[in-house]
Amino acid sequence: PPKQPIHEGGSDFVVVSNRLPVDRISTEDSDAGWRRAPGGLVTALAPVMATRDGAWVGWHGAPDEVLEPFHHESMDLIPVPLSSDEVELYYEGFSNSTLWPLYHDVIAPPEFHRTWWDSYQLVNTRFAEAAAQAAAPNATVWVQDYQLQLVPQYLRALRPDLRIGFFNHIPFPSPEIFAQMPWRKAILEGLLGADLIGFQRPNDTANFLRSARRFLGAGVKAKQVHVKDAAGRYSHIARAEPFPISIDVCQIQELAARPDIIARSQQIREDLGNPKTILLGVDRLDYTKGITHRLKAYGELLLDDKVKVEDASLIQVASPSRERVETYKQLREDVEGMVGRINGQFDTIQNTAIRYLHHSYPVEEMVALYLAADVMLVTALRDGMNLVAKEYVAARTNNTGALVLSEFTGAADQLKQALLINPHDIDGLKNTIVRAIDLPRRESGRRMRAMRKQILAHDVQRWSDDFLNTLAQKAIRDDS
Ligand code: G6P
Repeated sequence: PPKQPIHEGGSDFVVVSNRLPVDRISTEDSDAGWRRAPGGLVTALAPVMATRDGAWVGWHGAPDEVLEPFHHESMDLIPVPLSSDEVELYYEGFSNSTLWPLYHDVIAPPEFHRTWWDSYQLVNTRFAEAAAQAAAPNATVWVQDYQLQLVPQYLRALRPDLRIGFFNHIPFPSPEIFAQMPWRKAILEGLLGADLIGFQRPNDTANFLRSARRFLGAGVKAKQVHVKDAAGRYSHIARAEPFPISIDVCQIQELAARPDIIARSQQIREDLGNPKTILLGVDRLDYTKGITHRLKAYGELLLDDKVKVEDASLIQVASPSRERVETYKQLREDVEGMVGRINGQFDTIQNTAIRYLHHSYPVEEMVALYLAADVMLVTALRDGMNLVAKEYVAARTNNTGALVLSEFTGAADQLKQALLINPHDIDGLKNTIVRAIDLPRRESGRRMRAMRKQILAHDVQRWSDDFLNTLAQKAIRDDS
């Protein structure tokens, strides 16, 4: 059974996400406590959490461990346990081997297994029950991302008094692709339990509304869906709208101005032998990120002698992710094979073509890397947003540097002055990388200034304010 919340009478504001926004600090022989996990979402919500007795419901990351709710930085954290079987079926299975590839344009083939679906429903029920327990009367509950698409509907059934928001951080596929999902109706009905369903792009929003119309026969008018209950009676209006997520711009800018981080960025350049150009890629090691396309293009540029190993180095940070999932194991083999072949062919004793780092780093080191990099490469095949592109722009406070950005990212909607590429077009990608390396100072400055203006005006705080303000308003066509 879900644990009792700490706030008596419940919280006015509850966030629900697969992962809690904290990491365990473990020392050699003891658990030293918890530390706020990096990421914009928790930063944006921390002030709301503090003023509204906020609670956060989520998994703490360790299988087969049941934890009591605890208090951390003015939030109640309510851990939801997952057994190791559920980690395999709900998380690695349905979330990351069915939904993730299906929603990212089937770059990898999605697998459909009934046992995974059963587990997904069960775990979503558990999250909904925990949220229902934690919420005060008439509270606002904000459910996050594709792992929890059934929670809005389950939660509304338990607690019709709540105001429920949902935000999908990843793309929402076209109805032609979504059609493959054997449980497509149940998923749409799950999402439609929310009063407001947020997406990254207008396109994702339109895809969702088309699916609701096509597969549920739902009445859709002006981005509003007329939702009926199981008995076919009017239940509520669910609105769908785009809210492109962003980053904590202040934090990145402050770090970019810190003398020790600037010194570190110079150290990075020196340690690499002070090449004329440093190129940088930073990604979770995920097949949606187009890392192999990037490496192929870079390897060919070295082969064609368009880029020389004495002049340029590519730093590729690939942070470990979902390592027990087969497609991710295969990707790691592929990437590491390519890096090995390219470096074996082009490295000298002094110079390296690609400095490959299979690690994750604290934000301070990331900002030092952004400052060290002349060219940032974001070549995702499909990406809900891509916050790395936005962080690079935020860190370039002196308006230098070139951003090569895939058209298939949500970020491309906002960063229009980036050098936009189609990562499948290897020749186009190669030409654009060369162009980025040689970009005249005036042109890079003009582009970077325009992109910085956009980012500075749209940080993650504004994103969450926009979403929560819209959620607080009544739907215009609410004929209840
Ligand atoms: C993406 C998803 C998040 C997820 C993150 C890390 O950004 O949208 O929901 O938390 O990847 O993946 P993981 O499986 O480690 O939580």
